[in-house]
Order: sequence, then structure tokens, then C-alpha cells
Amino acid sequence: MKYLITGGAGYIGSTICSALEDAGHTPIILDSLVTGREEFTRGRIFYKGDIADEKLVTQLLRDHPDIQATVHCAALIVVPDSVSSPYEYYQDNVAKSIEFFHTLYKLGYGRVVFSSSAALYDVVPGFMVTEEAPLNANSPYSRTKLMMEMVLKDYCTAYGMKGIALRYFNPIGADPKLRSGIHVQHPTHVLGKLVDTAQGRQPEFQITGTHYPTRDGTGIRDYIHVWDLARAHVNAVTDFDKVFERAGNPRDNYLVINLGTGRGVTVRELVTAFEKVYGQTINKRETGPRPGDVAGSYTNADKAYRLLHWKAELSIEQGIADALKWGKIRENILKY
Ligand SMILES: NC(=O)c1ccc[n+]([C@@H]2O[C@H](COP(=O)([O-])OP(=O)(O)OC[C@H]3O[C@@H](n4cnc5c(N)ncnc54)[C@H](O)[C@@H]3O)[C@@H](O)[C@H]2O)c1
Repeated sequence: MKYLITGGAGYIGSTICSALEDAGHTPIILDSLVTGREEFTRGRIFYKGDIADEKLVTQLLRDHPDIQATVHCAALIVVPDSVSSPYEYYQDNVAKSIEFFHTLYKLGYGRVVFSSSAALYDVVPGFMVTEEAPLNANSPYSRTKLMMEMVLKDYCTAYGMKGIALRYFNPIGADPKLRSGIHVQHPTHVLGKLVDTAQGRQPEFQITGTHYPTRDGTGIRDYIHVWDLARAHVNAVTDFDKVFERAGNPRDNYLVINLGTGRGVTVRELVTAFEKVYGQTINKRETGPRPGDVAGSYTNADKAYRLLHWKAELSIEQGIADALKWGKIRENILKY
């Protein structure tokens, strides 16, 4: 079957393409390469362009009328950049997505899986959240995700579209077959920084914040292997209508599902796991929290299991090992 993947030249979108191919399906990529990598589109059906380019999207859907569902990954994703450049973030993630979803609707392609984020959640006592937990989108980036969830929900109500918002926790690792991985030169995520420290691309790893009310004072997250994340999308698109049946309410045409492991891991625990997999200690230093940092959260993973028949299977150690392997080869694969 064919599936449209926007942002398919990015870290997560390209991994979803690999998982779809491994399951016998054909991804069709739409990506402007504003941040993504052409290398990840090689050998795949690829339309280079913007999600808001109605002419291009129409052409793509005319060329591939048998597309069954869309996974909308395309977005700008760097939280501090969204603070300094909110216009660009609201423009790309919100204004363009509003147009893109409307084009899909007008052309009769109403099945949408949307890449949302656990960054929407407020910090709750005990740190475990379900899909009903209170929200507190505390950056322009996370507000773009919240806005697009609301837009998608309203489109589903008004236009009879069907939408599944998948709220990702903290993706780590790379495609286990090393077809793709993190592609930015200076990763802002914690595991990317650990890999860069180990491989000499940055002098030290900073543990930012050691006085949170967690078991060891450092922030807590739910690190999910990007391959597990990608597999969840394969289930979501291939079982799309069944997911709604499983939800049990025939009137529901919009669903929110958290994607995480169900296990909280602190930064100190991640560093310990990293050093074990890496085989030696790394240069590290404790500092205060960065502006906007929060203690964090992890998910209750029951709804994903019930609706997608999916659960995370790969360990944090496997994520670290794959990230290290990818870190060694990424500069040979990617032309910076
Ligand atoms: N990486 C994470 O930690 C994380 C966590 C939660 C949610 N998400 C969401 O997952 C999705 C994918 O994230 P990622 O880490 O793969 O990011 P990424 O930057 O690697 O990929 C995003 C892709 O979207 C493309 N793109 C951006 N704007 C576009 C536009 N207007 N038209 C066409 N293509 C466009 C970029 O070129 C890039 O290839 C995003 O929606 C992000 O918000 C990511």
C-alpha cells in the first residue's frame, strides 16, 4: 500500500519510510528539505516541495491516487529557535499545515496521522501522564503542536476527516540498519549531546538541573527508540480504520495516543546507561537548568497498546548503541 509521508527526509519521517518499506509498503515523500536530507530520500518516491504548495500536493495525489493515509511529520522542531523566531514556527507548523490538511480534505484524502509531542503536557505529581493529563504547552514550538491538534480535531468534526495525533515522547537512536538517523550537525537532544561528547565533537556533557523532585534530582524523560516509534506509525496507517473501531465510540473521528515506553529514566540514569554501553566514562559537569526546562514526564502506554496493538520493544541500551553507531558514520553519509 502507498502512504504519504511529509517530512520524510527528516529523522523520524525517514525512519517511518524504512519501517513501511520493511513491512512491504511504499512511502511517498513530500519534503521541502528546509532541514531534511536528500540522502534519506534516495531510492524512494520523492516530491521536493512545500506542504503548502497546493499545486504540488495535487499533482502528487493525482500521480498516486491509491495513497491510503498521510503521516504529517513536516515541521520545524528546535524549541529555542521557536522562542527567537516564532513567526517562522507559526508559519511553517501552523499556517502551512492548515492549508495542507485542507488540501487533503478537498481532494478526498481524509486519513491523517499527525506528529505531535509530549512537550504539550504539564508536569504532574509522579511524572506519569495519560492522554487525559493536563496540558501546558510552554514554548512557541509546543504551542504550534497544540494548535494543529485543535485544527485537526475541528477539521475531523466539520469535514468528516479522521485524525490520529501521536504524541511522541523522547525519540532516541537510529534505524537499526543505519539507513538514517539524527542529521543535524549540533544535536540539541540529550543523547545526541552524549554521543557528541563521547566522539569528541563537544568537550563535555552538561547535566542541566539537579534539583528536580525526581528520584535523583535530574530531569525525567521517556526515551523511545525511533524504530519503535516508526513501527507504531506502520500500525497506525495500516490499521487506520480498525484503530477507530477499537476506540469503541463510532462517533469518534479524532484520537490522541501517547507513544512512549511507559518507563521514566532520569538524566543520571541515561548517562550511566550510556557509559556502560560506550565502555568508558565521559567528561560531564552539573549545571543549573536552562530557561524553560522542566522536570519532565513519562507516559502510561496502555492506550497505544489497546488501539495500535503496539508497544515499545527496544531497550534504552539498544537506542544508545544505535546512536553511537550512527554517530560514527553520519558524517560519511551526510554531506554537510
Ligand atoms: N525529534 C523529536 O524529538 C520529536 C519529538 C516529538 C515530536 N516530534 C515531531 O516529529 C516530527 C518529525 O521530527 P524530526 O525529529 O524528524 O524533525 P526533522 O527536522 O528531522 O524533520 C522534519 C522534516 O520536515 C521537513 N519540513 C519542514 N517544514 C516543511 C514544509 N513546510 N514543507 C515540506 N517539508 C517540510 C524538513 O525538511 C525535515 O525533513 C515533527 O513534526 C516534530 O515536531 C519530534
